[in-house]
Amino acid sequence: MADLYQLRTAPEEPLDCIYILHCSGSDPLDGLEFSAKDRKALKAKAKALGPRGDEDEIISGECPLNLAHRVTFVGLGDERKLTHAKLRGALKRVMNQATKNREYQIGIGIPVRVHGLSDAESRIFALRESAIADYTFDHFKSKKNEFDKVDGLHILPLAGESEKEFEERLQRARLLRTAVQLARDLGNRPANDLTPEAFASAVREMCEEVSGLRVTVLGIKELLKEKMGGILGVSRGSQEEPRMIIIEHRPKKPKKSIVLVGKGVTFDAGGISLKPAAGMGWMKYDMCGAATVVGVMRAVAELEMPIKVVGLIPAVENLPSGTATKPGDILTMSSGKTVEVDNTDAEGRLILADALHHAERFNPDVILDYATLTGACVVALGHEAAGIMGNDPELIETLKKIGSDVGERVWPLPLYDEYLGYLKSEWADLKNAGERWGGVVTAGTFLKQFVPEKVSWAHMDVAGVAYNEKEHNGLPKGATGFGVDLTVAFLEQLLK
Ligand code: BES
Ligand code: MN
Ligand code: ZN
Repeated sequence: MADLYQLRTAPEEPLDCIYILHCSGSDPLDGLEFSAKDRKALKAKAKALGPRGDEDEIISGECPLNLAHRVTFVGLGDERKLTHAKLRGALKRVMNQATKNREYQIGIGIPVRVHGLSDAESRIFALRESAIADYTFDHFKSKKNEFDKVDGLHILPLAGESEKEFEERLQRARLLRTAVQLARDLGNRPANDLTPEAFASAVREMCEEVSGLRVTVLGIKELLKEKMGGILGVSRGSQEEPRMIIIEHRPKKPKKSIVLVGKGVTFDAGGISLKPAAGMGWMKYDMCGAATVVGVMRAVAELEMPIKVVGLIPAVENLPSGTATKPGDILTMSSGKTVEVDNTDAEGRLILADALHHAERFNPDVILDYATLTGACVVALGHEAAGIMGNDPELIETLKKIGSDVGERVWPLPLYDEYLGYLKSEWADLKNAGERWGGVVTAGTFLKQFVPEKVSWAHMDVAGVAYNEKEHNGLPKGATGFGVDLTVAFLEQLLK
C-alpha cells in the first residue's frame, strides 16, 4: 500500500496530482495550510474550475503550484451531513481515480469534519481511512497490479496542526492500517488456504514480527484434555483438525485485564444441517471475528499498551461427513454443561462457549467477543451496525459511543431472561438453537450461559459488517476488519 507522508515542503519532484476534498458552500482551501502566494494561485484556479463541493463532484485541472502537475477538487456535499461512510467513500474514490490515471505520487488535503466529531477525532479518522483506502487483496492473482498503484500519499497539513502532532497521528494511522490490513487479509483468504492450522501459523508468524506477544496453540490432544466438547463436536465432520489459539500480551504492570474472543470458523457449510448452495461461498468469512482479534492483538503489542490482553480463537471447519456431529447429538462442554445440538449450523456458539469458559483462567475484568454469529443479525441491522449484547449496560453504552465516533457502529439488543426458555432442551441442559424468532438474542443468550460469573462481557454479532458482498460505505468488497479500530479505541479509553 501507499506510503504516508506529511506534505510540508515542496517535494523534489512535483506530485502527479493533489486532491482537495471539500464540502459545499465554503472555500475549498479553508483550513489547509498554504503560503499566501500559493493560496492565492490555487484560489484563482478553483475559481476558474468552479467546483461547488456537491457530493460525488470531481473536477480536475492543471495545478498552478510547483507542488504538483494537477489539482483535483472532490466534493463531499453538506458538511452537516458528512458521515464516516461518505468521507471513507470519497477517499476510496480518490485512490481509484489516482490508480486509473497512473498517478503514483499524490497529495491530499482533507480540511473537513465528520459531523458530530471533534476536529481531532475527525482528523484521526481521516488519516486512518486514507492509509487503508487503497486496500486490495490480490494474493491469489498471478498478475498483480503493483506497478499501477499509488506509491506515495502526501497529506497536506491542516492550518495550526504542528509537525509533531501530525506525525503522531500519521504514525497511529500507519499502525492501525497494518492491524486492519492483517484482519482483512485473514478474512479474505479462502478456506482451502486458511485452515485452522494455517490460521494458527499466521498468528505465530505475526507474533514473531512484533515483540510483546506470546502464542500457544492447543491441538486435539489438549482440547480433549480440557474437555472442549463444543470445539471438538463442531470439528468432527472435517478432516482439518481444530485449534484453540491463545495470544497473550502481558505487560509488566497491567492496569486492566481483558480477554478478546473471536469466532474462527474457517468454513461454515452448516454441517449435517447443510446450508443451501447459493451464497455458501461467503462462509469463508466465518472467521472474521477471529481475524479482528488478531488485528487488535497486533496493535496492542505495537502500542505497548499497559493492559493484559489475551486473545482466544477457537478455529474449526464446519462440514458434513460420516463422522460429523448430528442433530440430536448431545455434547458436554468444557464448563460441564450439556448441549443438545438441534441444528449443526448453529456451530459458532458451540465453539465460543468453550472459549468463553476458558477465559476465566485469565482473570479478566472484561470479555469482548466478536462473531459472525447469525443471519438474523443481518436481517435486523443490515450492514450498518453490529449487534451488541451483554451483561453490563455501562460497557455496552461505552462501546456504542466509541463505535459511533470511530465509524464502527454497534447497536444494543436485549438479553431478557425469558430467551433462555427458547433454548430449553428435553434431554440436555440446553439446546443450541431456538425457534425461528429472536435469532440474534437467543444466540447471545446461549453464549451468556458460558460467561464466567461477575465478569463484564459484551458480545458483538458482526455477521452484517465483517464482510461485504459488494463495496459498501466506502468499504471494499470482502472482509472489512470491522472491530479493530473500535477495540483499540476502547482499550485506550480504559487507560484514561
Ligand atoms: N455463520 C452463520 C451466520 C451467518 C449467516 C453469518 C449469514 C453471516 C451471514 C452461523 O453459523 C449460522 O449458520 N447461524 C444460523 C443459526 C441458526 C441455525 C440457529 C443462522 O443464522 O441461520
Ligand atoms: Mn453456521
Ligand atoms: Zn457460522
